[in-house]
This record gives sequence, structure tokens and C-alpha cells, in this order.
Amino acid sequence: MSFDVSVISSKNILLAVTGGIAAYKSAILVRRLKDYGFNVRVVMTHGAQAFITPLTFQALSGNVVHTELLNPEAEAGMGHIELARWADLLLVAPASCDTLAKFAHGLADDLLSTLYLATKAPVWVAPAMNQQMWAAKATQRNLQMLVEDGVHVIMPAAGSQACGDVGLGRMPEPEFLAEQVKLYFHQTQRAIAEKFGLLAGKRVVITAGPTREAIDPVRYISNHSTGKMGFALASACYAAGAKVTLIAGPVSLDTPNGVERVNVHSALEMLDQSLQQLEYGCDIFIATAAVADYRVAQVAEHKIKKSGDELDVSLIKNPDIVATIAQQQKRPFMVGFAAETRNVEEYAAGKLVAKKLDMIACNDVSRSDIGFASDENAMTVFFAQKHALPKRDLAKASKQEIAQQLVEAIADALVH
Ligand code: C5P
Repeated sequence: MSFDVSVISSKNILLAVTGGIAAYKSAILVRRLKDYGFNVRVVMTHGAQAFITPLTFQALSGNVVHTELLNPEAEAGMGHIELARWADLLLVAPASCDTLAKFAHGLADDLLSTLYLATKAPVWVAPAMNQQMWAAKATQRNLQMLVEDGVHVIMPAAGSQACGDVGLGRMPEPEFLAEQVKLYFHQTQRAIAEKFGLLAGKRVVITAGPTREAIDPVRYISNHSTGKMGFALASACYAAGAKVTLIAGPVSLDTPNGVERVNVHSALEMLDQSLQQLEYGCDIFIATAAVADYRVAQVAEHKIKKSGDELDVSLIKNPDIVATIAQQQKRPFMVGFAAETRNVEEYAAGKLVAKKLDMIACNDVSRSDIGFASDENAMTVFFAQKHALPKRDLAKASKQEIAQQLVEAIADALVH
């Protein structure tokens, strides 16, 4: 099963705005939801239209606003049943006492109350009202009924109110509401991935980026690796349901959502952390890091002063991290990378055997359009003989797409 990484962009939020001064905040809420990439459609009750116009929401959401139930023109466009089915979440913000009462008692005398009965989507309400109306027994009774019916209530905040009162009843800020919606879909996606994703239940450790080998306290030897491929893989493995730890050399990339990150500098530190992660349990080890082959034999304690025309720095070989992990008793499924400038496939196949890998992904870094700093990559994947899988060519694509295809290749090899 392939997995949709862009969970947000495919989700539909039906935002219902009801009568209350907090309706002005809902305009900003549409913006924040759109910023996250949600599709937003707005339903307004008649009460809401006394505070803010449908045109405002039409402009912000990019969609016609729905206001009437028994309107042949609106029904011909997107009828109320279709709208109810379209929604992945019905978010009522602000939710007036009247709307809560209608929902609690199953009335269906306007578009919103009908949609509430007609949708299978989860329903969230963000009540906003005068503090006395919030405290009223009937309101609290209705809320209790809604909670029992499975409606999620976003509690109002306390503070000064438009009417001059102070107390509970303010609608939470749009930023908070949009964030809650985003978190909800991420958690839902995660729960599905953990159960059904290609790497469900697997623990993955990934090395990424360059290493930095100190010459003295201010200088080092390093390379041009940006870490993009490793970070894209971390993201794809997480989306496929895995628990992911990323051991990252010095790179300027944000940690992917849901991924645990350990920062290191040198090859020795990277090896140390890799061995430690193995102790915590690791099913799949992916080595994307461009580890420096050599380090300085004797790192100077103080900054080396400029002197003669030549400076000799003696280098010694760094341990091979991926090969070391492959030799451990608790050996995970091992994935290596090979960046070559010539005889790409021949060298890669050699490394697959020499480093005792299960799979190697190789690319031709002599091509200027792919590889290191590029956002795109093209690769050939080889599997160890025991997996009996033919080589796989991954055509030039974004590193995210390549990462997804590599996850699929790993999942295939795990069952072969
Ligand atoms: O030998 P070469 O550097 O070309 O091998 C590349 C593969 O080996 C990559 O997967 C890289 O992350 C890994 N490697 C390593 N430790 C090293 C050198 C390479 O894990 N010291």
C-alpha cells in the first residue's frame, strides 16, 4: 500500500459560522486553515450574516459560501447532501447557543442544522457567547448531550467580552483552532500509518549529511552533502508508519515532522550514536551520510598559526559506519548509498557485497542536474542476492518522490 504524505492538502474543512460577534475571527480562521493547505468551504447561518458578509468568506476561501437550504440554485451547485459528504471535518466556529440547541435536539430547519444531521464527518464546535448564556443550565445541558453524541467541544476561553462582561465565553484564537485541526489530521494519519503503513511498527535509523573532521579548534575538513536525501527519507519512513531516528551531521535543514533527531559532527561521533541506536533496537539502518573517509590524525589543541608556504596535515582512515553496523550481531536490514562519478553500477554492486548490505541506491554525481545540492535525484537500486529482486531504476524525480520509492523498495525486500 502506498501512503499519502501530503495528508493536509487532501482534507476538506466545512467551516460553519453562526451568529455572534466572534464571527469576525472566523475570517482569520479561514486564512490560517488555507495556510496549512486545507480545502475550506464556508456555511453561514442567517445570524452570522448580521455580523459579517458571505462575500468576505467567499474571497478568503475561494469558494461560494453556502447559506440556504431550500434554494434551488444552491442545490443545483453543491446540494446539502453533497456538501455533507464532501466534509472531512465540520467545524462550527463560533457556535451560538441556538446552534448548540438545534444540534442537541436534532432540528433540521436551516442549512447548518441539516448538514449536522447529514454528515458522517467528525463535528467540532467552538462555542462563543456571553458568559451568562454559557453558564445557563439549558446551554450546559445541550452541551452535555452533544458530548454524549460524540461532538468535540473546544472550550471557550475566559476574558473580557464584547458586551463588557468578563468570564467564560470567548472563542479561542483562530491560530489555536487551525493548529488543533492540523494536529488532529496528523494524529489520524499517524494512527493509520502505524497500523497499515509499509513500515508499520519498524524502527528506522538514518545517517544523513556530511561529517566535519576538525583540524584545529576553528578549521575542519568536510564535503558538500546537504542532507536532503536523508531528511526526505526520514520523512517518508515516518509517513509509512516507522519510528525514525535521524543521526544528522551539520546541515541547515528543519527536522521532519515526527522524527527524532540526534546531531553529530565527526564520523566517530556518528558511529558512536549509530551503535547506541542499535542498542535501542533497529530494524532498518539507512546510511545516506557522506562520511569523511579520513580524519586528521592529531587535532591541534590551539589554532594553527600561519607559518611556512606549506602545511602538512596527516590524515587517518575513518571507520566505515555502515559496514560496522552490518557486522553487529543484532544486524538490521542495511541500506547504503553510493555516489559515483564513473562506473556507477559496477562500483555500487561491489560496495553492496563488500559492506554486507541488503540494498544499495546509487547515483551518478557527475551529472550536474541531480545529486548533492540538487532537489532532484535519479537512482538505481540493487538488492543483495538473498533477496532475489531485480535491480530497479528510479527515474529523475524530487528527492521526496525518490524517498517514497526507496521506502517501497525496502518494504519489498523485507518480505523477500
Ligand atoms: O565507500 P563509500 O563512501 O562510497 O560508501 C558509501 C556508503 O557507505 C554510504 O551509504 C555511506 O553513508 C556509507 N559510509 C559509512 N561510513 C563511512 C563511509 C561511507 O557509513 N566511513
